[in-house]
Amino acid sequence: MPDKPWSGRFSEKTDVGVEAFTSSIQVDKRLYRYDIEGSVAHCTMLAETGIISQEEASQLIEGLGKIQREIERGKFQYHDSLEDIHMHIESRLIQEVGKVAMKLHTARSRNDQIALDVRMYLRHESRKIIGLLTDLRRVFVEAAEAHIDFLIPGYTHLQRAQPVLLAHHLMAYYEMFTRDEERFADGLERIDVLPLGSAALAGTPYPIDRRRTAELLGFSRVSANSIDSVADRDFVLEFLAGASICMMHLSRLSEELIVWSTAEFGFVDLPDAFATGSSIMPQKKNPDVSELVRGKTGRVYGDLVAMLTLMKSLPLAYNRDMQEDKAPLFDAVDTLADCLKIYRQMLPRLSFNREAAERAASTGYLNATELADYLAAKGIPFREAHGCAGRAVGYAIGKGKELHDLTLEELRQFSGQIAADVFAFLDVRNSVERRKSEGGTAADTVRGAIGEARKRLEMESGYSGKSA
Ligand code: ARG
Repeated sequence: MPDKPWSGRFSEKTDVGVEAFTSSIQVDKRLYRYDIEGSVAHCTMLAETGIISQEEASQLIEGLGKIQREIERGKFQYHDSLEDIHMHIESRLIQEVGKVAMKLHTARSRNDQIALDVRMYLRHESRKIIGLLTDLRRVFVEAAEAHIDFLIPGYTHLQRAQPVLLAHHLMAYYEMFTRDEERFADGLERIDVLPLGSAALAGTPYPIDRRRTAELLGFSRVSANSIDSVADRDFVLEFLAGASICMMHLSRLSEELIVWSTAEFGFVDLPDAFATGSSIMPQKKNPDVSELVRGKTGRVYGDLVAMLTLMKSLPLAYNRDMQEDKAPLFDAVDTLADCLKIYRQMLPRLSFNREAAERAASTGYLNATELADYLAAKGIPFREAHGCAGRAVGYAIGKGKELHDLTLEELRQFSGQIAADVFAFLDVRNSVERRKSEGGTAADTVRGAIGEARKRLEMESGYSGKSA
């Protein structure tokens, strides 16, 4: 095993237990691509500024390419004693191209190098998550279009409240996932800053050209303060916060699918391919995918809390504690991507049960607000109208009937203002159709929202009207 690059001032070998304890290679090896890409750009800049020769840069870049292929073919050897991905690549490069490899680390430190690698990784992953969210939003728009005249009960306090279109309910999720996507896009703005060239914390005496490195790596900006640049993990926290909010949305969706697929609700049938059975109860079809998404939400929250706690009170600038940022970050990225992917597959295959949903939407006095609005439209102050409608509901419950099943005479006990036109008001579909206020559930309003969403998706991703 080669000597450690930092072993110069040490007279004793590192304890093997300490090597195993401090090593992060099993976690950070997934950053190899960014580490190599960053090193290639760094070498190119070092040669362009005359800090190393062209010839040296070519040798280094060739060696790095070889190492990348070795890693990708699974031929690369990892050892705890080499700590992390940076040291692995550097020591392999020394074996490969000899002493010149030792020049690669000129004008940089692992502190700015790891900040660079994580930024490059997260830039790539954020773009992938944004793409998955676009796909998911498209799935919701398509499902809304397919269910535009389908009524469901809308709930507050999980009590039937007012009838709404299923399409309107699905478009609520479109809005939630659109905000999530905006959050990740906004986070990208702050990820897009090159830390390299900050070196350990104070900058470097070499005449480097940070803007050139930024250009080579596709960063729009270079960090303004070398101390902040190696100490900052805000961009990781922002990603984890966005991921937690997005998982919270997915868990609300999961909960609704779990509840809606019960015999008690029966609004939705899960595709067999996305459900599991019970090893003891032959009749069961379990919503495990949704349950697991709901469960994994806790994991992602845990990742955010771990990271916030990790960063709390750390003195400037780099501290080794920060090596612990990768496990929660990678876990959150993987978990969120998996959940988005599985729902993108599963949602178009849900089958909604119109009969059960519409039966639920037209029973349970969801038209009581209609009766109050009807009376208010006749000039009765709303609070009083609300009282009349409430008494009518109490009466109807006693009779075991719905409001629209009462006779005109029965209804007139609660207000002399009630006339035959009340029955059109009590009709569930009319109740939905009257809610034409901006953002309301009337079919035309929802069609408008779907149209806007389609336009936006087209603009964002050259959407052609077909599912990707
Ligand atoms: N493996 C380290 C990390 O992930 C890289 C930076 C190490 N820097 C140091 N001075 N030990 O944070």
